[in-house]
Amino acid sequence: MLKERKIVLGVTGGIAVYKAAELVRELVRRGSKVRVVMTESACKFVTPLTFETLSGNPVYTDLFWTPGSFEIGHISLGEFAELILIAPATANIIGKAAAGLADDLLTTVLLATHAPVLLCPAMNTKMYTNPVVQENIAKLVSRGQTVMQPGYGELACRAEGQGRLARLVDIVEEVESILTTKDLLGEHILITAGPTQEPFDPVRFISNYSSGKMGYALALMARRRGAVVTLVSGPTALPVPWGCEFVPVQTAVEMRDAVMTRLEKVTAVIKAAAVADYRPAVREPGKIKKKDGAMTIDLERNPDIISEIALQKGNRILVGFSMESERLVEHARLKLMEKGMDFIVANDVTEPGAGFRGDTNRVRILHREGEEETLPLMNKIDVAGIILDRVKKLRESRRGRDGS
Ligand code: PMT
Repeated sequence: MLKERKIVLGVTGGIAVYKAAELVRELVRRGSKVRVVMTESACKFVTPLTFETLSGNPVYTDLFWTPGSFEIGHISLGEFAELILIAPATANIIGKAAAGLADDLLTTVLLATHAPVLLCPAMNTKMYTNPVVQENIAKLVSRGQTVMQPGYGELACRAEGQGRLARLVDIVEEVESILTTKDLLGEHILITAGPTQEPFDPVRFISNYSSGKMGYALALMARRRGAVVTLVSGPTALPVPWGCEFVPVQTAVEMRDAVMTRLEKVTAVIKAAAVADYRPAVREPGKIKKKDGAMTIDLERNPDIISEIALQKGNRILVGFSMESERLVEHARLKLMEKGMDFIVANDVTEPGAGFRGDTNRVRILHREGEEETLPLMNKIDVAGIILDRVKKLRESRRGRDGS
Protein backbone atom coordinates (compact mmCIF):
# COMPACT_ATOMS: atom_id res chain seq x y z
CA MET A 1 0.00 0.00 0.00
CA LEU A 2 3.08 2.22 0.07
CA LYS A 3 3.37 2.19 -3.72
CA GLU A 4 4.12 5.70 -5.01
CA ARG A 5 3.72 7.21 -1.51
CA LYS A 6 6.04 10.12 -0.87
CA ILE A 7 8.05 9.87 2.33
CA VAL A 8 10.69 12.23 3.70
CA LEU A 9 12.97 10.30 6.06
CA GLY A 10 14.81 12.46 8.57
CA VAL A 11 17.93 10.75 9.92
CA THR A 12 19.45 12.20 13.07
CA GLY A 13 22.71 11.36 14.79
CA GLY A 14 22.70 8.18 16.85
CA ILE A 15 24.24 4.75 16.49
CA ALA A 16 20.91 3.41 15.16
CA VAL A 17 21.54 5.37 11.91
CA TYR A 18 22.77 2.14 10.34
CA LYS A 19 19.31 0.63 10.87
CA ALA A 20 17.74 3.55 8.97
CA ALA A 21 19.58 2.31 5.88
CA GLU A 22 17.64 -0.96 6.07
CA LEU A 23 14.46 1.04 6.64
CA VAL A 24 14.99 2.96 3.38
CA ARG A 25 15.52 -0.30 1.59
CA GLU A 26 12.22 -1.72 2.85
CA LEU A 27 10.26 1.46 2.04
CA VAL A 28 11.71 1.49 -1.48
CA ARG A 29 10.97 -2.23 -1.85
CA ARG A 30 7.33 -1.43 -1.09
CA GLY A 31 7.31 1.18 -3.86
CA SER A 32 7.63 4.42 -1.83
CA LYS A 33 9.40 7.48 -3.15
CA VAL A 34 11.87 8.25 -0.38
CA ARG A 35 13.81 11.50 0.05
CA VAL A 36 16.36 11.44 2.88
CA VAL A 37 17.34 14.46 4.99
CA MET A 38 20.37 13.94 7.26
CA THR A 39 21.50 16.13 10.11
CA GLU A 40 25.15 17.03 10.51
CA SER A 41 25.63 14.53 13.33
CA ALA A 42 23.91 11.73 11.38
CA CYS A 43 26.55 12.21 8.65
CA LYS A 44 29.23 11.44 11.24
CA PHE A 45 27.84 7.90 11.66
CA VAL A 46 27.07 7.01 8.03
CA THR A 47 27.82 8.98 4.87
CA PRO A 48 25.00 10.33 2.69
CA LEU A 49 26.22 8.06 -0.13
CA THR A 50 24.67 5.04 1.62
CA PHE A 51 21.23 6.66 1.67
CA GLU A 52 21.66 8.08 -1.83
CA THR A 53 22.38 4.63 -3.18
CA LEU A 54 19.51 2.97 -1.32
CA SER A 55 16.88 5.65 -2.02
CA GLY A 56 17.99 6.33 -5.59
CA ASN A 57 17.77 10.07 -4.85
CA PRO A 58 20.09 12.82 -3.66
CA VAL A 59 20.39 13.16 0.12
CA TYR A 60 19.69 16.59 1.59
CA THR A 61 21.88 17.98 4.37
CA ASP A 62 22.13 21.71 3.76
CA LEU A 63 19.57 24.30 4.82
CA PHE A 64 20.73 26.67 2.11
CA TRP A 65 20.45 24.18 -0.73
CA THR A 66 18.20 25.43 -3.59
CA PRO A 67 16.71 22.69 -5.76
CA GLY A 68 15.73 24.83 -8.80
CA SER A 69 15.78 28.47 -9.75
CA PHE A 70 12.53 29.39 -7.93
CA GLU A 71 12.27 26.56 -5.40
CA ILE A 72 13.32 26.70 -1.76
CA GLY A 73 14.70 23.43 -0.41
CA HIS A 74 12.86 23.00 2.86
CA ILE A 75 9.56 24.26 1.40
CA SER A 76 9.64 21.90 -1.55
CA LEU A 77 10.53 18.91 0.67
CA GLY A 78 7.72 19.84 3.08
CA GLU A 79 5.26 19.99 0.18
CA PHE A 80 6.57 16.77 -1.38
CA ALA A 81 6.04 14.76 1.83
CA GLU A 82 2.91 12.73 2.49
CA LEU A 83 4.67 11.65 5.68
CA ILE A 84 7.75 12.81 7.56
CA LEU A 85 9.40 9.87 9.28
CA ILE A 86 12.26 10.58 11.67
CA ALA A 87 14.29 7.47 12.48
CA PRO A 88 16.33 7.37 14.55
CA ALA A 89 15.03 10.40 16.46
CA THR A 90 17.50 11.72 19.03
CA ALA A 91 16.59 13.61 22.22
CA ASN A 92 17.90 16.69 20.40
CA ILE A 93 15.48 16.53 17.43
CA ILE A 94 12.59 15.69 19.79
CA GLY A 95 13.43 18.76 21.88
CA LYS A 96 13.82 21.03 18.86
CA ALA A 97 10.59 19.81 17.26
CA ALA A 98 8.70 20.31 20.54
CA ALA A 99 10.08 23.84 20.89
CA GLY A 100 9.50 24.74 17.23
CA LEU A 101 13.15 25.54 16.57
CA ALA A 102 14.33 25.73 12.96
CA ASP A 103 18.11 25.87 12.77
CA ASP A 104 18.87 23.20 10.17
CA LEU A 105 17.23 21.62 7.13
CA LEU A 106 15.28 18.91 8.97
CA THR A 107 13.79 21.21 11.61
CA THR A 108 12.76 23.75 8.96
CA VAL A 109 11.13 21.00 6.87
CA LEU A 110 9.19 19.98 10.00
CA LEU A 111 7.81 23.50 10.35
CA ALA A 112 7.12 23.85 6.63
CA THR A 113 4.84 20.84 6.21
CA HIS A 114 1.24 19.81 6.83
CA ALA A 115 2.15 16.13 6.46
CA PRO A 116 1.76 13.75 9.41
CA VAL A 117 4.95 13.18 11.40
CA LEU A 118 6.18 9.89 12.85
CA LEU A 119 9.17 9.95 15.22
CA CYS A 120 11.04 6.80 16.26
CA PRO A 121 13.23 7.61 19.29
CA ALA A 122 16.50 5.78 19.90
CA MET A 123 18.76 6.77 22.77
CA ASN A 124 20.17 5.73 26.14
CA THR A 125 17.47 4.74 28.69
CA LYS A 126 18.38 7.52 31.13
CA MET A 127 18.00 10.08 28.35
CA TYR A 128 14.73 8.57 27.13
CA THR A 129 13.18 8.49 30.61
CA ASN A 130 14.44 11.98 31.47
CA PRO A 131 11.37 14.08 32.36
CA VAL A 132 12.37 16.76 29.83
CA VAL A 133 12.41 14.26 26.97
CA GLN A 134 9.12 12.75 28.16
CA GLU A 135 7.54 16.23 28.35
CA ASN A 136 8.73 16.98 24.83
CA ILE A 137 7.30 13.69 23.55
CA ALA A 138 3.98 14.46 25.27
CA LYS A 139 3.94 17.88 23.54
CA LEU A 140 4.47 16.31 20.12
CA VAL A 141 1.75 13.72 20.75
CA SER A 142 -0.68 16.43 21.93
CA ARG A 143 -0.11 18.16 18.56
CA GLY A 144 -1.13 15.01 16.71
CA GLN A 145 2.31 13.64 15.90
CA THR A 146 3.04 9.96 16.43
CA VAL A 147 5.97 8.91 18.62
CA MET A 148 6.74 5.18 18.67
CA GLN A 149 7.84 3.52 21.86
CA PRO A 150 11.49 2.46 21.61
CA GLY A 151 12.29 -1.19 22.15
CA TYR A 152 13.85 -2.79 25.22
CA GLY A 153 17.21 -4.57 25.15
CA GLU A 154 20.96 -4.08 25.02
CA LEU A 155 21.93 -0.53 24.06
CA ALA A 156 25.05 0.75 22.28
CA CYS A 157 26.46 1.87 25.67
CA ARG A 158 26.23 -1.84 26.77
CA ALA A 159 23.53 -1.01 29.33
CA GLU A 160 20.18 -2.78 29.11
CA GLY A 161 16.90 -0.88 29.05
CA GLN A 162 14.35 0.91 26.91
CA GLY A 163 15.82 3.02 24.13
CA ARG A 164 16.53 0.78 21.15
CA LEU A 165 15.05 1.87 17.83
CA ALA A 166 11.66 0.14 17.44
CA ARG A 167 11.68 -2.98 15.22
CA LEU A 168 11.86 -2.01 11.53
CA VAL A 169 8.85 -4.23 10.77
CA ASP A 170 6.81 -2.20 13.31
CA ILE A 171 8.03 1.17 11.99
CA VAL A 172 7.05 0.20 8.45
CA GLU A 173 3.68 -1.03 9.72
CA GLU A 174 3.09 2.29 11.48
CA VAL A 175 3.97 4.12 8.23
CA GLU A 176 1.45 1.92 6.39
CA SER A 177 -1.13 2.64 9.06
CA ILE A 178 -0.68 6.44 9.03
CA LEU A 179 -1.03 6.50 5.24
CA THR A 180 -4.18 4.33 5.14
CA THR A 181 -7.72 5.72 5.14
CA LYS A 182 -9.49 4.88 8.39
CA ASP A 183 -12.72 3.40 7.06
CA LEU A 184 -13.16 0.73 9.77
CA LEU A 185 -13.24 3.06 12.76
CA GLY A 186 -15.72 1.81 15.34
CA GLU A 187 -15.16 -1.87 14.47
CA HIS A 188 -13.45 -4.19 16.94
CA ILE A 189 -12.51 -7.24 14.91
CA LEU A 190 -11.43 -10.52 16.45
CA ILE A 191 -9.35 -12.57 14.04
CA THR A 192 -8.15 -16.13 14.54
CA ALA A 193 -5.05 -17.32 12.69
CA GLY A 194 -2.61 -20.18 12.36
CA PRO A 195 -2.94 -23.86 13.21
CA THR A 196 -3.90 -25.44 16.48
CA GLN A 197 -1.59 -28.07 17.96
CA GLU A 198 -3.16 -31.00 19.79
CA PRO A 199 -0.53 -32.73 21.97
CA PHE A 200 -0.65 -36.42 22.85
CA ASP A 201 2.50 -36.39 24.96
CA PRO A 202 4.95 -33.66 26.09
CA VAL A 203 6.95 -33.76 22.85
CA ARG A 204 4.44 -34.53 20.06
CA PHE A 205 1.24 -33.12 18.68
CA ILE A 206 -1.24 -33.34 15.79
CA SER A 207 -1.45 -30.19 13.67
CA ASN A 208 -1.66 -28.86 10.10
CA TYR A 209 0.33 -26.71 7.68
CA SER A 210 -1.23 -23.31 8.44
CA SER A 211 1.45 -20.60 8.65
CA GLY A 212 -0.88 -17.90 9.97
CA LYS A 213 -0.14 -15.64 6.96
CA MET A 214 -3.80 -15.26 5.92
CA GLY A 215 -4.99 -14.36 9.42
CA TYR A 216 -2.05 -12.04 10.16
CA ALA A 217 -2.65 -10.23 6.85
CA LEU A 218 -6.25 -9.64 7.99
CA ALA A 219 -5.05 -8.34 11.36
CA LEU A 220 -2.54 -5.92 9.80
CA MET A 221 -5.02 -4.61 7.24
CA ALA A 222 -7.86 -4.21 9.76
CA ARG A 223 -5.64 -2.25 12.10
CA ARG A 224 -4.30 -0.06 9.31
CA ARG A 225 -7.90 0.78 8.42
CA GLY A 226 -8.70 1.92 11.95
CA ALA A 227 -10.31 -1.14 13.53
CA VAL A 228 -9.34 -2.28 17.01
CA VAL A 229 -7.91 -5.75 16.45
CA THR A 230 -7.69 -8.79 18.69
CA LEU A 231 -5.62 -11.56 17.13
CA VAL A 232 -6.02 -15.02 18.65
CA SER A 233 -3.26 -17.07 17.13
CA GLY A 234 -2.07 -20.63 17.17
CA PRO A 235 1.72 -21.18 17.06
CA THR A 236 3.35 -19.50 14.02
CA ALA A 237 6.79 -18.19 13.06
CA LEU A 238 5.43 -14.73 12.18
CA PRO A 239 6.28 -11.52 14.07
CA VAL A 240 3.54 -10.37 16.43
CA PRO A 241 1.64 -7.70 14.47
CA TRP A 242 2.15 -4.16 15.69
CA GLY A 243 -0.72 -2.47 17.51
CA CYS A 244 -2.99 -5.51 17.94
CA GLU A 245 -4.14 -7.21 21.12
CA PHE A 246 -2.28 -10.49 20.69
CA VAL A 247 -3.50 -13.68 22.35
CA PRO A 248 -1.30 -16.74 21.74
CA VAL A 249 -2.91 -20.17 22.13
CA GLN A 250 -1.95 -23.72 21.32
CA THR A 251 -5.00 -25.99 21.24
CA ALA A 252 -8.54 -25.67 19.86
CA VAL A 253 -9.93 -25.64 23.41
CA GLU A 254 -7.60 -22.76 24.33
CA MET A 255 -8.65 -20.94 21.15
CA ARG A 256 -12.33 -21.46 21.98
CA ASP A 257 -11.83 -20.05 25.50
CA ALA A 258 -9.79 -17.07 24.24
CA VAL A 259 -12.45 -16.23 21.64
CA MET A 260 -15.54 -16.74 23.80
CA THR A 261 -14.23 -14.66 26.73
CA ARG A 262 -13.59 -11.74 24.34
CA LEU A 263 -16.73 -12.06 22.23
CA GLU A 264 -18.77 -9.57 24.26
CA LYS A 265 -16.57 -6.60 23.32
CA VAL A 266 -16.10 -7.28 19.58
CA THR A 267 -18.21 -6.23 16.59
CA ALA A 268 -16.95 -8.78 14.06
CA VAL A 269 -15.17 -12.14 14.03
CA ILE A 270 -13.09 -13.52 11.15
CA LYS A 271 -12.04 -17.14 11.63
CA ALA A 272 -9.04 -17.76 9.39
CA ALA A 273 -7.45 -20.30 11.77
CA ALA A 274 -7.13 -23.92 10.71
CA VAL A 275 -8.61 -25.51 13.81
CA ALA A 276 -8.10 -29.21 14.41
CA ASP A 277 -11.48 -30.94 14.43
CA TYR A 278 -10.12 -33.70 16.68
CA ARG A 279 -7.67 -33.97 19.58
CA PRO A 280 -6.03 -36.99 21.20
CA ALA A 281 -8.42 -38.36 23.82
CA VAL A 282 -5.53 -38.81 26.25
CA ARG A 283 -2.49 -36.59 26.76
CA GLU A 284 0.21 -38.77 28.28
CA PRO A 285 2.22 -37.03 31.05
CA GLY A 286 5.50 -38.65 29.88
CA LYS A 287 7.00 -39.24 26.43
CA ILE A 288 5.41 -42.31 24.83
CA LYS A 289 8.08 -44.99 24.37
CA LYS A 290 8.62 -46.80 21.09
CA LYS A 291 7.31 -50.39 21.06
CA ASP A 292 7.12 -53.20 18.50
CA GLY A 293 4.07 -53.16 16.25
CA ALA A 294 1.57 -50.45 15.34
CA MET A 295 0.38 -47.68 17.59
CA THR A 296 -3.11 -46.23 17.81
CA ILE A 297 -4.16 -42.83 19.11
CA ASP A 298 -7.83 -42.34 20.00
CA LEU A 299 -9.20 -38.98 18.98
CA GLU A 300 -12.16 -37.04 20.31
CA ARG A 301 -14.02 -34.07 18.83
CA ASN A 302 -12.86 -30.55 19.49
CA PRO A 303 -15.43 -27.81 20.04
CA ASP A 304 -16.64 -26.18 16.82
CA ILE A 305 -15.72 -22.63 17.75
CA ILE A 306 -17.48 -20.81 14.95
CA SER A 307 -20.77 -22.62 15.64
CA GLU A 308 -20.52 -21.56 19.30
CA ILE A 309 -19.94 -17.96 18.24
CA ALA A 310 -22.97 -18.12 15.94
CA LEU A 311 -25.20 -18.95 18.93
CA GLN A 312 -24.23 -15.60 20.53
CA LYS A 313 -23.84 -13.66 17.30
CA GLY A 314 -26.19 -10.73 17.95
CA ASN A 315 -25.38 -7.90 15.52
CA ARG A 316 -21.82 -9.10 15.03
CA ILE A 317 -20.50 -9.85 11.57
CA LEU A 318 -19.29 -13.45 11.39
CA VAL A 319 -16.90 -14.53 8.64
CA GLY A 320 -15.56 -18.06 8.26
CA PHE A 321 -13.06 -19.70 5.97
CA SER A 322 -13.47 -23.03 4.25
CA MET A 323 -10.50 -25.11 3.26
CA GLU A 324 -11.36 -27.86 0.80
CA SER A 325 -9.61 -30.29 -1.51
CA GLU A 326 -12.70 -31.12 -3.62
CA ARG A 327 -16.18 -29.71 -4.42
CA LEU A 328 -15.12 -26.35 -3.01
CA VAL A 329 -18.32 -24.36 -3.48
CA GLU A 330 -20.69 -27.13 -2.44
CA HIS A 331 -18.87 -27.85 0.84
CA ALA A 332 -18.26 -24.18 1.61
CA ARG A 333 -21.93 -23.27 1.09
CA LEU A 334 -22.96 -26.04 3.45
CA LYS A 335 -20.62 -24.70 6.18
CA LEU A 336 -21.81 -21.14 5.55
CA MET A 337 -25.43 -22.10 6.20
CA GLU A 338 -24.88 -24.69 8.97
CA LYS A 339 -22.40 -22.59 10.99
CA GLY A 340 -24.42 -19.35 10.87
CA MET A 341 -21.83 -17.18 9.08
CA ASP A 342 -22.56 -13.98 7.14
CA PHE A 343 -20.13 -14.98 4.42
CA ILE A 344 -17.46 -17.59 3.90
CA VAL A 345 -14.08 -17.38 2.16
CA ALA A 346 -13.39 -20.66 0.36
CA ASN A 347 -9.95 -21.81 -0.71
CA ASP A 348 -8.94 -25.04 -2.39
CA VAL A 349 -5.60 -26.36 -1.08
CA THR A 350 -5.00 -28.34 -4.26
CA GLU A 351 -4.91 -25.16 -6.41
CA PRO A 352 -1.42 -23.74 -7.10
CA GLY A 353 -0.80 -20.57 -5.06
CA ALA A 354 -3.84 -21.09 -2.83
CA GLY A 355 -4.30 -22.04 0.81
CA PHE A 356 -1.51 -22.92 3.22
CA ARG A 357 1.90 -21.31 3.72
CA GLY A 358 2.45 -19.22 0.57
CA ASP A 359 2.08 -15.44 0.30
CA THR A 360 -0.81 -15.74 -2.16
CA ASN A 361 -4.32 -17.13 -2.12
CA ARG A 362 -7.10 -17.73 -4.61
CA VAL A 363 -10.51 -17.54 -2.98
CA ARG A 364 -14.21 -17.47 -3.62
CA ILE A 365 -16.47 -15.47 -1.35
CA LEU A 366 -19.93 -16.97 -0.84
CA HIS A 367 -22.57 -14.75 0.72
CA ARG A 368 -25.53 -15.94 2.75
CA GLU A 369 -28.01 -14.43 0.32
CA GLY A 370 -26.56 -16.54 -2.52
CA GLU A 371 -24.16 -14.10 -4.22
CA GLU A 372 -20.81 -15.61 -5.16
CA GLU A 373 -17.52 -13.89 -6.07
CA THR A 374 -14.47 -15.51 -7.65
CA LEU A 375 -11.25 -13.63 -7.01
CA PRO A 376 -8.05 -14.14 -9.04
CA LEU A 377 -4.76 -15.30 -7.52
CA MET A 378 -3.70 -12.46 -5.22
CA ASN A 379 -1.31 -11.60 -2.44
CA LYS A 380 -2.81 -12.52 0.96
CA ILE A 381 -2.63 -8.84 1.97
CA ASP A 382 -4.86 -7.93 -1.00
CA VAL A 383 -7.26 -10.81 -0.30
CA ALA A 384 -7.49 -9.50 3.28
CA GLY A 385 -8.32 -6.02 1.95
CA ILE A 386 -11.23 -7.39 -0.11
CA ILE A 387 -12.59 -9.44 2.81
CA LEU A 388 -12.54 -6.28 4.95
CA ASP A 389 -14.28 -4.34 2.16
CA ARG A 390 -17.10 -6.91 2.36
CA VAL A 391 -17.27 -6.56 6.16
CA LYS A 392 -17.58 -2.79 5.74
CA LYS A 393 -20.27 -3.14 3.06
CA LEU A 394 -22.27 -5.49 5.25
CA ARG A 395 -22.02 -3.08 8.18
CA GLU A 396 -23.20 -0.19 5.99
CA SER A 397 -26.14 -2.16 4.65
CA ARG A 398 -27.16 -3.12 8.22
CA ARG A 399 -26.92 0.52 9.31
CA GLY A 400 -29.11 1.52 6.34
CA ARG A 401 -31.61 -1.23 7.19
CA ASP A 402 -31.72 -0.30 10.90
CA GLY A 403 -31.82 3.42 10.04
CA SER A 404 -28.89 4.11 12.38
O1 PMT B 1 -2.35 -19.79 7.58
P1 PMT B 1 -2.03 -19.87 6.10
O2 PMT B 1 -0.81 -20.72 5.84
O3 PMT B 1 -1.92 -18.50 5.48
O4 PMT B 1 -3.21 -20.62 5.37
C1 PMT B 1 -4.47 -20.05 5.28
C2 PMT B 1 -5.60 -21.06 5.53
C3 PMT B 1 -5.59 -22.10 4.41
C4 PMT B 1 -5.43 -21.75 6.88
C5 PMT B 1 -6.92 -20.22 5.52
O5 PMT B 1 -7.08 -19.60 4.27
C6 PMT B 1 -8.14 -21.12 5.78
O6 PMT B 1 -8.73 -21.69 4.88
N1 PMT B 1 -8.55 -21.24 7.08
C7 PMT B 1 -9.62 -22.11 7.52
C8 PMT B 1 -9.14 -23.52 7.56
C9 PMT B 1 -10.20 -24.46 8.15
O7 PMT B 1 -10.06 -24.86 9.24
O8 PMT B 1 -11.24 -24.64 7.38
P2 PMT B 1 -12.46 -25.68 7.78
O9 PMT B 1 -13.19 -25.81 6.50
O10 PMT B 1 -11.91 -26.89 8.40
O11 PMT B 1 -13.30 -24.87 8.84
C10 PMT B 1 -14.38 -24.00 8.50
C11 PMT B 1 -14.44 -22.83 9.47
O12 PMT B 1 -14.76 -23.30 10.78
C12 PMT B 1 -13.15 -22.05 9.59
O13 PMT B 1 -13.45 -20.68 9.68
C13 PMT B 1 -12.54 -22.58 10.89
O14 PMT B 1 -11.74 -21.57 11.53
C14 PMT B 1 -13.79 -22.89 11.71
N2 PMT B 1 -13.60 -24.00 12.66
C15 PMT B 1 -13.20 -25.24 12.24
C16 PMT B 1 -13.10 -26.26 13.14
C17 PMT B 1 -13.39 -26.02 14.50
N3 PMT B 1 -13.29 -26.98 15.40
N4 PMT B 1 -13.78 -24.79 14.89
C18 PMT B 1 -13.89 -23.78 14.00
O15 PMT B 1 -14.26 -22.66 14.35
